[in-house]
Amino acid sequence: MSKTFDLLHLRHSGTGLVEGLFKKAHSHNWDPERDVDWSVPFEAEDPLMASGWAPYSRTATYKALPKRARAHVTRRSFSFMLNSLRLGELVAEEICFKVGLKSRLSDHKAHAAAQAMDEARHAFVYTRILDAMEETPEEIDPRTRATFDQVLALETVPDMVAWEQFYLESLAMNVLRHAKAHARHPVLKQVFTLNLRDESRHMGFGVTYVAEQLAQSDETDRMAFARRWLDQILTLSFGQQDPTAITRVTRWLFEAGVDNSVALAGHMMQEQGAVLQAEYAAAVDGSRVPQELKSARRAGLMAPDILEALGLARHPLIVGALRGREDAA
Ligand SMILES: [Fe+2]
Ligand SMILES: [Fe+2]
Repeated sequence: MSKTFDLLHLRHSGTGLVEGLFKKAHSHNWDPERDVDWSVPFEAEDPLMASGWAPYSRTATYKALPKRARAHVTRRSFSFMLNSLRLGELVAEEICFKVGLKSRLSDHKAHAAAQAMDEARHAFVYTRILDAMEETPEEIDPRTRATFDQVLALETVPDMVAWEQFYLESLAMNVLRHAKAHARHPVLKQVFTLNLRDESRHMGFGVTYVAEQLAQSDETDRMAFARRWLDQILTLSFGQQDPTAITRVTRWLFEAGVDNSVALAGHMMQEQGAVLQAEYAAAVDGSRVPQELKSARRAGLMAPDILEALGLARHPLIVGALRGREDAA
């Protein structure tokens, strides 16, 4: 815990980048009451999201489902995503509290405080949408909970920022961009647009922090950090659609009154292989680079000497990330 001596002698990171993000946190500030029009009701049968958004929804078997079943699966997967995102907001808020307390840099403390406010607002808005939908919350995926438990157990500022602001915020950007592009209900369009602006700032802090850490590290630590995070990113990179267990989708089909839900879900899982292959191909040719790869590139993890030393210079996803244009979606 800080003493007055510590607070009187706080340092500034000296780069100006984080201070710029803190200033934007003020000019980008938004009010869920004023800036979102809640007057449009959430009708019970409204899928709220365009076709092609829900997991497995680009498969032929899904597309052939009755309209009512598609609407049910879309609503359930949307409320599942919101419930998972809401938990993620609370994790991010908690990490910001800890980073704010532990950091010895004044601009980093200020950024953590502003981010905590953003995350609290996001959790509030997602709760309001879930309430308006009147959907029973979906149980959080055990793997998601395990990841968040791992993050909540972190104690050092570099570990917390690498996990939360650098990595998880990048994953969240993929999910939110995909959701924003498919949102049909006006509240969702507004909320995802505003949230994305906030999350992009949070991720900007993570990328800036990691880049500065790498620049200050000796070669051994720099390589170790790059190896650890490129390993994770290259293994788990999935891009747009959050992977949803097929057992959950099977249950949603059953709830919607689809007779042969188990067999149909099996077909959907098989057909999903081609969808994932197309996403992978887009990442490899650089036409759609997942955000976590872009963040790794921007933070300096794909510097030529690192890729050479780690034997990753020819990894297809690295080649795609380096080929992809900065503004590619
Ligand atoms: Fe958030
Ligand atoms: Fe965030």
